[in-house]
Order: sequence, then structure tokens, then C-alpha cells
Amino acid sequence: MIPDKRAVARALAAKALVEGRPLDWFESLYQKARDEGAKVPWADMVPNPNVTHLFKFLPKFAPLQPALKVACGYGDDAEWLAAHEFEVTAFDIAPTAIAECRRRFPASKVNYVVADLFAAPRIWNGRFHLVWESYTLQVLPPELRPGAIRAISQFVAPGGYLVFAARGREANEPKGLMPWPLTRAEVAEFTACGLSEVFFEDYFDKENPPARRFRACFRKLDEVESA
Ligand SMILES: C[S@@+](CC[C@H](N)C(=O)[O-])C[C@H]1O[C@@H](n2cnc3c(N)ncnc32)[C@H](O)[C@@H]1O
Repeated sequence: MIPDKRAVARALAAKALVEGRPLDWFESLYQKARDEGAKVPWADMVPNPNVTHLFKFLPKFAPLQPALKVACGYGDDAEWLAAHEFEVTAFDIAPTAIAECRRRFPASKVNYVVADLFAAPRIWNGRFHLVWESYTLQVLPPELRPGAIRAISQFVAPGGYLVFAARGREANEPKGLMPWPLTRAEVAEFTACGLSEVFFEDYFDKENPPARRFRACFRKLDEVESA
């Protein structure tokens, strides 16, 4: 039988949720990965191709534009942004994940930070010309997602872009197991937070078995446009 690569993560998530600690299991999982070789199911150790694909729908950015990678895990997406000449800040709630980013990329130009999306430095609001969010919302329970979407939207500078990817489902389909897919209506919440959708795709990826994904680019209106 093929071992379930999500088993440890799902067990930790289920326990944390029952105990009312929905943000605590990430650090536990990264520590188990470091100390016991547990599988971190989302850690492919390459930039996420479901998101890098989206950059073909964006304008060319001038070098050294500030970019933010939300919940960076082991850092591959942040390093991809740095290699594409962004000035990158990347954060994660799990100190062990951030320590691993620094260990893996000792010469990195990325500013790796331990931070909670729900208590991020205020100075980040409106600062980033490019924000990259993938797969974080789908590991948060639905009741935390509106707050997360508000926080992520606030990071985007006027005229800046958000690239986004998550698992997708119909509203009448079961929520399923972690990672819990989002509905189209949840993704549309970004547009209630001052962003306009410039690209959206609902598709099945090339995984085995294929997973249904939503991916999108959003843009925040600049001051002239919103006047
Ligand atoms: C499913 S992983 C996705 C990692 C990465 N974004 C990717 O696309 O591969 C979710 C990540 O979100 C982090 N995370 C969860 N809640 C967070 C929060 N409130 N603030 C910051 N990071 C958080 C976890 O530690 C984990 O690294």
C-alpha cells in the first residue's frame, strides 16, 4: 500500500482544530519533519508551477520591486521571486520553517521573517507590488479565511498585483479532508477587499490523481483609478 503523505499533517490538524488551536499544528509538523523525518505534504522543494504560470498574464515588473511571499514554507517560491529580480520578503508562522529557509539558502537575498498573517507588521500594508499567496487559505478553517483574505489584500500596493492558487470545489460538494478546497465565492472575496480580478482559471492539475485548482491574478486599483 502507498503510504498517505498527508497522514501526519491531517492527524495534527484534526487534533489542533478540536482543541481550538487552528494555527498551532504547522510548527508541530515542521518540527516532526526535522526531528523524525515526517512528511510535509506541500513541500515539493521547487517553485510552485501552478503559480509561476500566472506571471505570463502580468506586466513586466521593473527590477527590485517589493514582493511578499505569504506563508513561505521552505522558501522555494520566495527564492524564485528573488531570482526574478524582486526584492523579496517572505514570512511563515512556523519558526522551524523559517530556520530551514535560512539553512537551505544561506546566501539568499530574501528577507525571511517569522510572522502570523493575522498579526503581520502594519508597515507591510500597501507596500508590495507583488504578493504571492498559494495554498495557505486551504489549510485554514473556513471561518478564518475572510480575515486572511483581508490581510493578504491589504499587503498589495496601489496598482500592484496578487497571484493566487488554491484547491477548488463546488459549494455543494463536501468540504473533504485537509487541504480543504475553496469555493469560487470564497476566492471572489478578494474583490470585496479592493482588488479586481484580471485572470481566473478553474482547472485540473497534472498530479496523480489530478486535483481541481483555482488560480487567479488580482490587481489593486491605484489612487488615480479609484478616485
Ligand atoms: C500548505 S502550506 C503552503 C506553503 C507555501 N505557501 C506553498 O505554496 O507551498 C501553508 C503554510 O502556511 C503557514 N501558515 C499557516 N497559517 C499561517 C499564518 N497564520 N501566518 C503565517 N503562516 C501561516 C504554514 O506554516 C505553512 O508553511
